[in-house]
Amino acid sequence: MSYPEEMRKSIEKVEETRDERLGLEINRMSLEEREEILKKFHPDYRPEAKREIGIGPNKGDLAPNEVVDLLESYPIVDPEEVDLSQVDYDVSLLIIGGGGAGTVAALWAHYSGLPVEEILISTKLRHGDSNSIMAQGGIQAADKPDDSPVLHYLDVMGGGHFANKPELVRELVLNAPSILKWHEDLGVMYDKDEDGNMLTLPGGGTCRNRLHSAKDYTGMEIMRVIRDEARNLGIEVLEFSPAVELLTDNGRVTGALLWNMETNQYYVIRAKAVILATGGFGRLHIQGYPTTNHYGATADGLVMAYRVGARLRDMDSVQYHPTGAAYPEQIVGLLVTEKVRGLGAQPVNREGEAFVHPLEPRDVEAAAIIRECYERRLGIETPTGMVGVWLDTPMIEEIHGKGTIESKLSAMYRMYSRFGIDMTQDPILVFPTLHYQNGGVEIDEKARVLGESGVIDGLFAAGEVTGGVHGKNRLMGNSLLDYNVFGKIAGESAAKYCKSNGKGRLTLDHVIRYMEALKKMGVPENRKSPLILPDYRGKKVLMRTLDLF
Ligand code: FUM
Repeated sequence: MSYPEEMRKSIEKVEETRDERLGLEINRMSLEEREEILKKFHPDYRPEAKREIGIGPNKGDLAPNEVVDLLESYPIVDPEEVDLSQVDYDVSLLIIGGGGAGTVAALWAHYSGLPVEEILISTKLRHGDSNSIMAQGGIQAADKPDDSPVLHYLDVMGGGHFANKPELVRELVLNAPSILKWHEDLGVMYDKDEDGNMLTLPGGGTCRNRLHSAKDYTGMEIMRVIRDEARNLGIEVLEFSPAVELLTDNGRVTGALLWNMETNQYYVIRAKAVILATGGFGRLHIQGYPTTNHYGATADGLVMAYRVGARLRDMDSVQYHPTGAAYPEQIVGLLVTEKVRGLGAQPVNREGEAFVHPLEPRDVEAAAIIRECYERRLGIETPTGMVGVWLDTPMIEEIHGKGTIESKLSAMYRMYSRFGIDMTQDPILVFPTLHYQNGGVEIDEKARVLGESGVIDGLFAAGEVTGGVHGKNRLMGNSLLDYNVFGKIAGESAAKYCKSNGKGRLTLDHVIRYMEALKKMGVPENRKSPLILPDYRGKKVLMRTLDLF
């Protein structure tokens, strides 16, 4: 396919300026400049894209319209018609979600003494289908002599605009080196030099090279190993069985109702403890943005937890990864890993000019690309009307030598080769894409879910469904770390809880109360959630040009 004539003309300008740009020091923005560009160009600052939540613990707080629609919705099952007397699975620990956080939680619950037959994972698609497996660039851990968890902590807090929950960030950074050691013991193959030392790269907003990768398949490599470990141990996984509601006994979470998508049956699960590991909301396509996320990322966990009284936090902020593919059409929105910029590729406009430091924090980098395309009008338009900027990938080979892209960015190289684009020779076109749910269900440092009056008994959460770790903006490589650290903590905490608690009654009383509140608000009864799968009928997704200004 390669590039059409018009785009090729701009590529010539990129080639002409490359040598000069190779020697160019681009300054990072000052804090004031960052604040200014965010306010003017980051999608989070569009007031019309959000509204106040009208129900529940976060009543009055702002969240994206698409999320509020789901929170202000009726359940997809009628609580009066569900028979909860027939229990299909009776276990100690139910884990909802079979991505990274759920799998790690199951492993650590078992390592903490819970027999495998007492643990059940339920998952919407197949075991491992998740954003975790799609992660490319790497995982952060301060394990080099010039680095420390303190520096990692400061980076995470600064990147998150100091809105993070400090005690969660502390757990994140302190546990990071031992998580990598655990991975190595299990067989994760991280990139190393010829002496066996871990190779590390910089990421946006980090003050040290702290990013550990397995080429650009890091998420896949970690998932390969932890899923094998779960399978070898014999942990049971119910696939194609998303949860549609939690079950409660006087406020305590005591199980869940699952829906088997293949047989259309409902399963009643009784458990002493439940871990929510349902991931994020990319497939809501907030503000019409395409997404890097997997098909099941539809915010189900947020909805179910909110109905039992969980508090949400930082729901007003959404992560748009600065570099989603903008050409060709078939891959619009898919991830172009930050590792591409970590290895030296610069974002460049139509005229071949570098306009931003390649490694600003993600929200700032995304805002700068939007400004270049929509205010300065220096983006490059594709034949279908999509706009983007160049990421000058041939620079990587100039800096690190021939063959670097094929060996260190194999996934990227393969993705573009399939469309006749050789990213070692030509730049690639990128534009921000919806990537991560920065906020979510509030937890404490033991991964216990918090409600209005403290811990919600029996409910734990880990991974992207939670909020607080990343504040208002997550830095690269901290999502793989987050699900490992808090998956581990959730597994350990839930196993401990199971040892000292029995089972409870199974009711949907909380859902009945929630429905009464919805009725009082006058919410139309045909609005239903959780969504389970994205709805593309008539939706304004993958717009050619976003209606930004
Ligand atoms: O750019 C990336 O490879 C994404 C990494 C992340 O979101 O942590």
